[in-house]
Amino acid sequence: MKKLFSYLKPYWLFVVLAPLFMIVEVICDLAQPTLLARIVDQGVMRGDSAFILKTSLLMLIIALVGMVGGVGCTVFASYASQNFATDLRRDLFKKVLSFSPANVNKFHTSSLITRLTNDVVQLQNLVMMSLRILVRAPLLFIGGIVMAVSINAKLSSIFLFIIPPLILLFLLFARRAGGLFQEIQERVDEMNQVVRENLAGVRVVRAFRREGHERGRFSRANQNLLEAMKKAFSLIIFAFPIFILVVNLGWIAVLWFGGALLRRNEIEVGSIIAFTNYLMQIMFSLMMIGSIVISISRAGASARRVLEVLEEEPVIKETENAKTLQNVEGEVSFENVSFSYSKLSEPVLRDITLSVKAGETIAVLGETGSGKSTLMSLIPRLFDVDEGKVEVDGLNVREVKLKDLRKFIAVVPQETILFSGTIKENIKWGREDATDEEIVEAARIAQIHDFVSSLPEGYDSLVERGGKNLSGGQKQRLAIARALVRKPRILILDDATSSVDSITERRILQGLKNYTRGCTVFIITQKVNTAVLADKILVLHEGRVVGFGTHRELLEKCDIYRDIVESQLGNEVFNNG
Ligand SMILES: Nc1ncnc2c1ncn2[C@@H]1O[C@H](COP(=O)(O)OP(=O)(O)OP(=O)(O)O)[C@@H](O)[C@H]1O
Ligand SMILES: [Mg+2]
Repeated sequence: MKKLFSYLKPYWLFVVLAPLFMIVEVICDLAQPTLLARIVDQGVMRGDSAFILKTSLLMLIIALVGMVGGVGCTVFASYASQNFATDLRRDLFKKVLSFSPANVNKFHTSSLITRLTNDVVQLQNLVMMSLRILVRAPLLFIGGIVMAVSINAKLSSIFLFIIPPLILLFLLFARRAGGLFQEIQERVDEMNQVVRENLAGVRVVRAFRREGHERGRFSRANQNLLEAMKKAFSLIIFAFPIFILVVNLGWIAVLWFGGALLRRNEIEVGSIIAFTNYLMQIMFSLMMIGSIVISISRAGASARRVLEVLEEEPVIKETENAKTLQNVEGEVSFENVSFSYSKLSEPVLRDITLSVKAGETIAVLGETGSGKSTLMSLIPRLFDVDEGKVEVDGLNVREVKLKDLRKFIAVVPQETILFSGTIKENIKWGREDATDEEIVEAARIAQIHDFVSSLPEGYDSLVERGGKNLSGGQKQRLAIARALVRKPRILILDDATSSVDSITERRILQGLKNYTRGCTVFIITQKVNTAVLADKILVLHEGRVVGFGTHRELLEKCDIYRDIVESQLGNEVFNNG
């Protein structure tokens, strides 16, 4: 919690000024009923119109001062709360960027989005409310009681019978409401998840004609939210009439006892009017306290969720004396590497040992799920190994600065992700300071230059969010250009040409050879035709290395490789070879 409060620190002046202005408003509000009583008792009763005028004027002035106080408080509170939220969002976003895939998995993307948006807004509202109402309500409550007692102590004894039951009511209410509002937040999360998946996967949903299924999923999530809302609001609906009942009983009691005191000349009419006014102020302040209690319990859930993100430690951390890398040759080796995505699940990679010389091109082959992508993700250290070690240029990747390590590695991921912006911006994303010539060169090798040039706006054409206005193959080639422009020392192409026709693919791979001279290249592929272009082929099977060598060597020694080749090329290879 302290951590959250620290976000208010830069705006401490406004945090102090807002309540001060609120105090002014409350004092003005409290003065009004007493002045009103004076007008009635001393002005109206005695027919003193000069006194009435004078006091009314005073009331007007006080009302104006009160307004200044109220407006000032709102302005300062808004300023503080909005800046608070902006800073908090900035840091949350920074934190999320530092997350490893494992961290993101833990929270789920949709929950992270709600935390950064909805939850921060809850906290912002709470800050706003606290700076205004948390000051106003207690002051008005205590001030109202003091003023009422000062008017007539006997009549004030009525409070003893109204206020304690009301407070009890609120306490009971607040305890119940906290849990219910937390539940609402969780339901909102679930619903967001369904919406997000559907918007992202709208094509798939259409193609598979799964609208009905998805509608069902959404309406279930929606229904759950409704149920949670119903529970929370039925509590409010139940509590509110009780509150009004107690207030009305109080009102009747005041008029009743006030009337009795009036007959005995122990109080004047104006004082009774003032008294009822104070009674209302006290009741309203209690209601405000009630609503802020709900807000606090609601925001409490949000605060926890925001703090969870802020306090989450990135799984992949640099060691304290991580080495800087000036340059990378591109040698990569795995030594007895085992890896599993979670402690509970089976290992995905088992006892992998191999070494790749700088500048070699390695094709990685293996059936789906054999661990190809996983193995590659260990090189830029997206995950840490469970056992063994991964080395780049003979240095354990755990012992070098992450920024340095990743600077020399470029990955074209299996799932192409582009950002909204122009084509040029998307390629430049690979390296901020790439020149136009370098961008075009990378695009040429990725075999996307001709396509881009044919567009009316060329490199300034817009890529829509997620690259929706491009075909699968165009997206992949753009992603390859983005990787190439980095001039990496280690290049990982994860099935990066799967949507590209074989002639274009061949051109890309040939172009790569010249461009990446001296760079170590890993090409994950399902196609033997592609694999044979590499210097060596690595065959994975169920997380183990079952073959590593040239095409010829593997044909002789590796049964699984032979099976793959046979299934794709038929027997001709063997007959010819
Ligand atoms: N983020 C993840 N969390 C948990 N398990 C995962 C994760 N990613 C992959 N796996 C599991 O690890 C295994 C290997 O997956 P991997 O993506 O490395 O296979 P692959 O060889 O790249 O397959 P493909 O050819 O289909 O891309 C699979 O059984 C998969 O279920
Ligand atoms: Mg894969």
